[in-house]
Order: sequence, then C-alpha cells, then structure tokens
Amino acid sequence: MIVPLFSSKNPRLGVDISSTAVKVLLLEKHRNGYRPVGFAIEPISPGAVQDKTITDTDVVAGALSRALSRSRAKTKHIVMAVPTSASVSRVLNISNPGNEFELEEQVRMESDQYIPFPIDEVSLDFEPLHPEAGSKQKKKQSNEDSSIQVIMAATRTTNVEARVAVAEAAGLSVDVMDVESFAIQNAFTEIIAPTLTAEDRAQPVALLDVGANTTTINVFSGDDIIYSKEHPFGGKQLTNEISMYYGLSPEEAEEKKRNDTLPDDYHRKVLQPFIDNMAMQVERFIQYFYSETNRGTIGLILLGGGTANTPGVIERINNETGIQTRSANPFVAIGQGSRISAELLANHGSSMLVACGLALRSFDQ
Ligand SMILES: Nc1ncnc2c1ncn2[C@@H]1O[C@H](COP(=O)(O)OP(=O)(O)OP(=O)(O)O)[C@@H](O)[C@H]1O
Ligand SMILES: [Mg+2]
Repeated sequence: MIVPLFSSKNPRLGVDISSTAVKVLLLEKHRNGYRPVGFAIEPISPGAVQDKTITDTDVVAGALSRALSRSRAKTKHIVMAVPTSASVSRVLNISNPGNEFELEEQVRMESDQYIPFPIDEVSLDFEPLHPEAGSKQKKKQSNEDSSIQVIMAATRTTNVEARVAVAEAAGLSVDVMDVESFAIQNAFTEIIAPTLTAEDRAQPVALLDVGANTTTINVFSGDDIIYSKEHPFGGKQLTNEISMYYGLSPEEAEEKKRNDTLPDDYHRKVLQPFIDNMAMQVERFIQYFYSETNRGTIGLILLGGGTANTPGVIERINNETGIQTRSANPFVAIGQGSRISAELLANHGSSMLVACGLALRSFDQ
C-alpha cells in the first residue's frame, strides 16, 4: 500500500502524539515567516501510549479532541508522524526512473533490502530529493544518465493505522503521515536555522529533543541532517526520583517539579544529581556521534524538549561538554505578534519541535 507519507497542501494542524501528551499546533505564514495561531498541549493518561505505541485509541482521541477545541483551530485536516524508531528511511539512487509506475516499482524493489518486515505489512512513500533536477533529467530522458535520488520512508502499516484511527475517532482527517525525525529537521531548517549566525553554523549543530522518556539527537551540517539517534532518557527519570524521595504520586511529583514547589533540599538532594547525570548523558550522546561518523566537531548544542526547562541544565551541559549550549524554542523566533500568550509560548515552545515541523507541512509546494 502506498500512503501519502509526504505530499500536502493548505492549512493543517500539526499533531504530535508523544508519550505524555497530544500537542497540536497551527501555523500561519506571513511576510517575514511563520506565526503560531493555534496551540494546545493536552496530557494523556499514563499507559495510553507505551513505547511509542498507541495502546488506547479512545483515550488518545479524547485528548486530541480537547486539544483541538482548546487550540481554537478550525481545520479538520491534520498532519501526524510515525516515530523515527518505528520507521526506515533511506536515500536511494534510481538509475532509470521511467514513468510514475515504473519509478514506484523500482523504489519498492530497491527499498526491500532495507525494510526489516514483510513488504505486504509495510506503508511506503517516497519523494525525489532534487525535484527540479529530476524534471530536467526527465526532459532529456534519452540521455544516458537519467538517474535520480529519492528519499524513501517506510513503516509498518499498523503504525499508520493506529494514528489514523485516533484522528478518525476525533473526527479529523490525516492529510500527511510524516516521520518524527523529518519533522524535527523541518523545524530546524525553516525556523531555528534562520535565527543562527554564520559563525553558529560554521560547525555541525546538535539539536537535542529531551522529552519525558526519549531523547532524540539530530546533528546538522548546513541544512543537511548528518546524524539522527534516539536514546531512552528523559525527564520522567527526575519525576520518578522526586516521587520516591518525597513519597509523592507521580502526578504530584510532576506538578511540583514543573511549578518548582518542592521542599528546600530538593535542589541539592534530587535536582543537582539529575542535572549532573543529564549532562553526562548528553556528553555520551555526542561521543556516539563522533564514534559513528566522521563529520567534524560540534560547535553548538541546541537543547529542546520539555526537559530543557529544567533549571540550570543548559549551563551544566555547557560545562560538561565544553560546547556552547542554548535553548531550542522555535517560538522565540516566530512567537511575536501571535495571539497566543507569550508566556505559554516561552514555557512550552521547547517541547513543540515535532509539532512545529508537522505544522510546517501546511506550506509544502
Ligand atoms: N519547567 C519544567 N522543569 C522541569 N521539567 C519540565 C518542565 N516542563 C516540562 N518538563 C519535563 O519535560 C518532560 C516533557 O517534555 P516533552 O513534552 O518534550 O516530552 P514528550 O514529548 O511528551 O515525551 P517523549 O518525547 O519522550 O514522548 C516531562 O518529563 C516534564 O516533567
Ligand atoms: Mg517528544
């Protein structure tokens, strides 16, 4: 089955179903860039999404409906994503693309070797990487070298169906099913990169999304993504430690952590050890990048995900790694002039990287 993992047009709500919440975002394009016009984060009960798998469609659909009405977005069209770890993507060289059907057939054949599950259980889509070059080549098809590069993405059809079921239960229709790593790449290229100086971008830039359960590290050289990896680390660890140390329920621990209303010894006894550990983890993730690639030295770390809001963590990572570290909040660049409260955007922006990349799919050509 071919599902539209790529194509899209018109206003669409970006919907990130994470392990803790449904996050929705609608962007509007204006002269100088983009502006958030619809925004909501709706928590989902623990267990409804486990290890990136939706285990309770109704609970997640309920959260999506509430998020939609709170966002005040009017569209019924949404963009969702399958988790990076549940998908395979590859750049393929197709030597004789031929017509549309022949190209599709070739992509399927080439892809087969990279896809670790039965092909009849797979949803696959692809897109030429340099469309203009492709069309020029098509015009001179009689020439010998008519090869094109396409980017292919595939996932188990059940991953797509589980998300579509949530959307349909909430009365919405999925226009595009993206991949989370593509979404983060899009958010970086379109929104974050333009805020960086030439000096910032002279060396590879690491963008980290430290969520509740998972940390994603993406490294960019220019606009190209040169490394992408997920690690099982996140802010839930701190919530668990708070909950154990003070004998609180996970919900209470989470709430007090976010509002900074824990007893005086919290900073020294619980927070500091977590921050030390997080800085060590980030250092480790960066060492993996160095050992797995040979693409230069990281000159800047951008820290996103809700856990980037942990007080003191940015400075601590800076000290541990010796690499300049800043917060990655896409709304710092685009929040001005929005009718959504500046405080909301400042506090929650860093956890909206995936949603932001998905919302950007409204403006595909
Ligand atoms: N002000 C804050 N101080 C400390 N931690 C915070 C703060 N705000 C949010 N967090 C933490 O950020 C995490 C949630 O971040 P985020 O929304 O990016 O995760 P997620 O996308 O739901 O998780 P995942 O990507 O792992 O599925 C939680 O662990 C939460 O406790
Ligand atoms: Mg996340």
